[in-house]
Amino acid sequence: MNRLAVIGQPISHSLSPAMHTAALRALGLEREWSYVAIELSPERFSSGVGELRERGYVGANVTVPHKLAALALADDASASARAIGASNTLTFSPAGVRADNTDAPGLIAALPHDPSGRRALVLGAGGAARASAWALAGAGAEVVVHNRTRRRAAELAAELEVRVLDPPEAGAPLAIADFDLLVNATSVGLAIGNSARGRAGLDLKDLGLAADGFSDRMVVVDLVYGAAPTELTAAASAAGATVVDGLEVLVRQGAESFRIWTGSEPPLEAMRAAIRSE
Ligand code: ATR
Repeated sequence: MNRLAVIGQPISHSLSPAMHTAALRALGLEREWSYVAIELSPERFSSGVGELRERGYVGANVTVPHKLAALALADDASASARAIGASNTLTFSPAGVRADNTDAPGLIAALPHDPSGRRALVLGAGGAARASAWALAGAGAEVVVHNRTRRRAAELAAELEVRVLDPPEAGAPLAIADFDLLVNATSVGLAIGNSARGRAGLDLKDLGLAADGFSDRMVVVDLVYGAAPTELTAAASAAGATVVDGLEVLVRQGAESFRIWTGSEPPLEAMRAAIRSE
């Protein structure tokens, strides 16, 4: 049996086991491969990975809060994992642990068109923003970042050689009209779906956006996902923008991991159907 897992804390709500199990089943691989969720605390992460290897696991997705630690423990890492400073995909072999980052190619694959030459605004300055900015810049987009804490945006921009958005006048929303692509890589919107917060317009305000700022020629990606649309995707859809939700990005990063481990073409429709029915 080729064993796979997703490791995180908390992990019980992860959609990855359902998504990967559906993919294995769709390809008739479920007898030779398995994929489960494993909860490990930061203190136990490194020794836990060692135990999985001893038990014959061949790979693992890694999620919050272990993506930096995953890169740190690897013997070998892809250029993307090194540049982003984080790994979400580990592959185990007798030679050691290999770290990849499929969040970056996953984002690019989820876009409706090639971002080369397009103007992209990335909101946020954490790990998700870093992976997004690196991926888009590498794909040839002209990347600008913005973050509530400007210093963090400036640090990220300097490292990745992208620009920081000029601050708007006090109280004014961000000037987004000139962007072809907007990526929300902050955690704003995470609580939506079960709160009245979004409906009151507070999430858009936290992001520095105005509901009437979107246009039908924009692509808006929200890495946040949940049961309901986020306020950002709802406002963008209402304006006729092309919306890519966080579930599609989740499917695409999972698909890239799946390809690395199994060498098979990932069955995207089966993966989408599995997470949308969870
Ligand atoms: P991750 O590594 O998963 O991307 P993170 O490092 O915690 O997560 O980053 C969360 C991002 O969401 C940050 O850019 C954060 O902005 P700050 O750097 O100013 O903290 C942003 N964020 C979280 N809550 C926010 C809010 N209420 N308004 C605006 N930005 C927010």
